[in-house]
Amino acid sequence: MTDRDLLEIAAGMMKQSYAPYSHFHVGAALLTKSGKVYTGCNIENAAYPATVCAERTAIFKAVSEGETQFESIAIVGGINGEVKDYCAPCGVCRQVMREFCEAEFRIVLTDSTGLIKECTLDELLPLSFGPENVAE
Ligand code: THU
Repeated sequence: MTDRDLLEIAAGMMKQSYAPYSHFHVGAALLTKSGKVYTGCNIENAAYPATVCAERTAIFKAVSEGETQFESIAIVGGINGEVKDYCAPCGVCRQVMREFCEAEFRIVLTDSTGLIKECTLDELLPLSFGPENVAE
């Protein structure tokens, strides 16, 4: 599974996005260390804070099925599903990644030109707070 393959799966997931309020459609594809892919889309709510991002949908689907070892996630988003710029994960999603993923976990993004930008979780969430901080 290449980064480009994972980005294509994420792009396809924008079709499932439920975003009647922002019209910003996001798709995510999460690759496990065992090679499985879990997909997600953003799911909005009339009570706005109840909205869940595409990344968390994918992560929660995977964790709910017993998967906790992750390699990378591809994220694609844009207004009405039209990709223009990189769609970087929000702060809440970065923190959820921090719960289950290692510092080297890779976040893969693309823009309208097809350029791929890749960074690690440690780069997106430096000096972070995680499970080991609350371990007794
Ligand atoms: N959103 C995501 O799903 N992932 C991101 O990385 C950024 C934002 C969603 C949340 C909301 O439904 C919409 O995009 C606009 O913020």
